[in-house]
Amino acid sequence: MILLNDSHFVGKGLHRECYIHPNNVQLCVKVVVAGDLSESKREQSYYKLLQKRGISWDILPRFHGLIETNRGAGAVFDLIRDFDGEVSKTLEHYLCAEQLASSENTGIKQAIGVFKRELHRQAIITMTLSPKNIMYKKTAANEGTLIVIDNIGNSDFIPICSYINYLAQKKITRKLLRFEQTVLKMCAHNNALQQCLLNLGSSARAV
Ligand SMILES: Nc1ncnc2c1ncn2[C@@H]1O[C@H](COP(=O)(O)OP(=O)(O)O)[C@@H](O)[C@H]1O
Ligand SMILES: [Mg+2]
Repeated sequence: MILLNDSHFVGKGLHRECYIHPNNVQLCVKVVVAGDLSESKREQSYYKLLQKRGISWDILPRFHGLIETNRGAGAVFDLIRDFDGEVSKTLEHYLCAEQLASSENTGIKQAIGVFKRELHRQAIITMTLSPKNIMYKKTAANEGTLIVIDNIGNSDFIPICSYINYLAQKKITRKLLRFEQTVLKMCAHNNALQQCLLNLGSSARAV
């Protein structure tokens, strides 16, 4: 059993709290604090499928199994960190920031373009793609990549899209369209960033 305390706390979503793993600063442990384990179970079964498929884990953190903690069952994942060692922040954080250096804009735009391409190429199924469930991992001062940390997998009653690529691609296109609309709304107060991201669709196709 590992002991989690508030000094390890990273963040909290609707259902889970995320902590730095006390024995390995490259990992995080997520414990469920609201609701049941059904979301976690779905996530883990989709992870099994991706592990079998041997994906490259550049837009998803690796899953390292379950451990017992003082705060209940913990799911262990890679902890996303920036090039300088800081724990990465969500894409929502950057889109909503009141003061964002304009030098950041192109990095965010490029990261979204690469993310769209890779989600399609690796045929990764998600539920709603929300900027609060995507980390912007900075790889340099003005560059980064996007990594989805939540809402992965398929909530359809019959999750056939997970197995048939043509259907997966259609689903991914739909999820990405809504994601782009959310992104543009979220940064509406930052005119420079919004303008930069407006022609995302065309730029992403060109990547
Ligand atoms: N792998 C990770 N690396 C870094 N931070 C993370 C990671 N996973 C989650 N977080 C942080 O913890 C928060 C909650 O995690 P999340 O998985 O979204 O929980 P929930 O399922 O409750 O929505 C995220 O918004 C993010 O700030
Ligand atoms: Mg979340």
